[in-house]
Amino acid sequence: MNTSTTRKLNGSNHLPLGDQRNAPFYGKDILSVKQFIRDDLTYIYEVAHEMREMVARIGTFDLLKGKILANLFYEPSTRTSSSFTAAMERLGGSVIPINEVRYSSVSKGESLPDTVRTLECYADVIVLRHPEVGASALAAKYARKPIINAGDGVGEHPTQALLDLFTILEEIGDAEGLTVTMLGDLKNGRTVHSLSRLLSLFHAKLNFVSPAVLEMPAEIVSELADKGIHQHAYTDLDPVIADTDPVIADTDVLYVTRVQKERFASEAEYDEVKNLYVITPETLKQAKKKMIVMHPLPRVGEISLEVDEDPRAAYFRQMEYGLYTRMALLAMVLGKA
Ligand code: CP
Repeated sequence: MNTSTTRKLNGSNHLPLGDQRNAPFYGKDILSVKQFIRDDLTYIYEVAHEMREMVARIGTFDLLKGKILANLFYEPSTRTSSSFTAAMERLGGSVIPINEVRYSSVSKGESLPDTVRTLECYADVIVLRHPEVGASALAAKYARKPIINAGDGVGEHPTQALLDLFTILEEIGDAEGLTVTMLGDLKNGRTVHSLSRLLSLFHAKLNFVSPAVLEMPAEIVSELADKGIHQHAYTDLDPVIADTDPVIADTDVLYVTRVQKERFASEAEYDEVKNLYVITPETLKQAKKKMIVMHPLPRVGEISLEVDEDPRAAYFRQMEYGLYTRMALLAMVLGKA
């Protein structure tokens, strides 16, 4: 695994003066939000801002001309896969898309280490989504080129958390001390695992709303507690507790997640919890005027379509922030930020 202290320099330790490969993140893997400190985030978002301006001004430009990204997806994706493709192409690079591993040599039994060692012969960076926790770290152990974790099972989704935080900063202005309510499948939702850790750098107050069987994993709760983060768990957005306002009333960011059907052992177990929460215009009547509703998407009924008209619904804008964040990350790991 390549961490924030080491770089994958492709065999060269000698960089010419002014070479942007001296920049932070050049040659590094992006495996977990645990690798970031606040200064890193400031830097990433400065670059993301520049990307946003460049896209608005000229659309596509040649910062990564000649560079190739391999998009290696062992699980379905619309947003992550296509936004990394769009990011690379807007930067003038190109993409090897492997969105259906069953049509690749994986279906013949090729291992993950061999697959990444193959792709790095053709590509400069590999974006990997895989159903197993730790798969990206394993790939990074074998790869000489940077690996970007695009979701490792129920583990982490660090680039989603980075774009989620960018959304919060852009929409609210600051993340320091915000009250963030995460709702839905907190056990299996890798986006909330990464985002809660990232928000701990901003001393956020976290509310976790889920059925008991889908609670935030104990190791994450304990990790956040060790950092002094205030956390409260509820089974309802409007808990029946005397003299207590609904959770939504205090919330600055409502982060809704889908119940992850693919992680359940049986359809019957999924059916028991699938429709427990639905955010409607009625729910938002109790919310602050200045708050946002986010969702990593896809949604499967957790937010009613009528909410889309509410200016606080940020989930479509959130996807666009993802493009700029991923452009920044690609430019950074390839030494061009
Ligand atoms: N948010 C997210 O990861 O979406 P996809 O599964 O479509 O990539």
